[in-house]
Amino acid sequence: MIVTLLFLATAALINAESSTRYDYKEALRLSILFYDAQRSGRLPADNPIPWRGDSAVDDGDAGHDLSGGWYDAGDHVKFGLPMAWASWVLNYGLVAFPDAYEATGQTAMACDSVRWPLEYFLKCWIPSENKFYAQVGDGNSDHSFWGSPENMRMSRPASAVTTSCPGSDVAGKTVSALASGYLVFKDTCGDASFAADLLSAAESLYAFAKNNKGLYDDCMAAGDFYSSSSYQDELAAAAAWMAKATGESSYLSDARSFYPNGTAWGFNWNDDNVGAAVVLYDVTGEDFFKNDVVNFVSSYSSGRVQKTPCGLSYRDKWGPNRHAANAAFIATLAASLGLNANEANEYAQSQINYILGDNPLGISYEIGFGNYFPKKPHHRGSSCRMSDNSCSINDSGDNPNQLDGGMVGGPGDADDYSDDRDDYVHNEVAVDYNAGFQSALAGLIHFAITDSLPAAPAPGC
Ligand SMILES: *[C@@H]1O[C@H](CO)[C@@H](O)[C@H](O)[C@H]1NC(C)=O
Ligand SMILES: *[C@@H]1O[C@H](CO)[C@@H](O)[C@H](O)[C@H]1NC(C)=O
Repeated sequence: MIVTLLFLATAALINAESSTRYDYKEALRLSILFYDAQRSGRLPADNPIPWRGDSAVDDGDAGHDLSGGWYDAGDHVKFGLPMAWASWVLNYGLVAFPDAYEATGQTAMACDSVRWPLEYFLKCWIPSENKFYAQVGDGNSDHSFWGSPENMRMSRPASAVTTSCPGSDVAGKTVSALASGYLVFKDTCGDASFAADLLSAAESLYAFAKNNKGLYDDCMAAGDFYSSSSYQDELAAAAAWMAKATGESSYLSDARSFYPNGTAWGFNWNDDNVGAAVVLYDVTGEDFFKNDVVNFVSSYSSGRVQKTPCGLSYRDKWGPNRHAANAAFIATLAASLGLNANEANEYAQSQINYILGDNPLGISYEIGFGNYFPKKPHHRGSSCRMSDNSCSINDSGDNPNQLDGGMVGGPGDADDYSDDRDDYVHNEVAVDYNAGFQSALAGLIHFAITDSLPAAPAPGC
């Protein structure tokens, strides 16, 4: 009898969940599919996107295979900097909130998804030559083509950083991807041998990044698209992840030397600092790092960072949703470390709920979520059928292929939005856009299933 009662009591505890205003589990499931739609290379037999096939299978350089990885956004270049950022931010969601993926029945899908860029990064790094491939494809020729990736025929040059063309930014950011990937595959995704390969590559790539300092776009032609303003932030995050992954104190002292003091402007592909601060607070418990995390979250939640009239953090006209979602992810991490948890989670919900429908148009900016969402995202694979070689950006009607899970750039500063395919400022998707969004959803699901999510804040309008 006592045993039965205990069992019932435990079951009740396990089953208690905070109610959520939107179905975060469905939003998370869809977001994983977006990454599957961005896959380059030879697709596996279980590819879940019916409108995608093999593409760019010959990507490489002088016989060195560089196929695989993710297409960046609506285009088909493989840009190393945003891909690495998306990779480590998704990995962090799996490291911090594995129970959310489990509760959603998406652990296996997520493991397959985050493995894809990690396998590609292993191809990109040649330790014996101190050579790291940081891009495949040419931005200008790629952007002059509107068609599916399966039909593209332009040349796709590969470019690398080396000891004579250093890029501690892109190499450092990839270290964060590999080291966080090591933790994901050692634990949640259960592949010790792949995890060991990732850690070994992370160690040698870290040494390369640290010993060859420089901005990659000083000598690579990536700067027109993803110009890097500093490499200190990437080295700080890389050292932080290496410290978390290995427990070695030398990485911690490196991280301290690279990490700058202050409240970050944002968290995005060009600024790892607040992410580094979270990892370093997690590892050290020191106020120095805690203060930067707390101040970052409060700068966004308080409205010191501009909000639209209806409450979306509006950091930039270019893709405001991702800046808001990235800040929401940092807020859920802060909450998981006990830093003003309720306020942080209220802020995170306010942003994610806005993106999913708490806005004056009642639109979900995540494609496929609910009944009303963008139908014409700026995305070639979604816009063009594989069988159609005469596809144009100006074709009338909705995109023939629904890009489930993609989160578009977002509204203007007056909460205004229109669903225009040629509006790449507000209606493009990108691998870096969805990363903070997906990991923030994981964070909110974690708090919901542990019955510790505060009530959803009222919509701002
Ligand atoms: C960090 O910056 C703040 C504000 O400028 C300053 O008050 C503080 O002393 C700095 N801390 C360290 C450890 O440099
Ligand atoms: C699409 O239409 C715009 C004008 O609305 C025009 O400037 C552009 O050249 C067209 N693009 C193509 C590929 O037809």
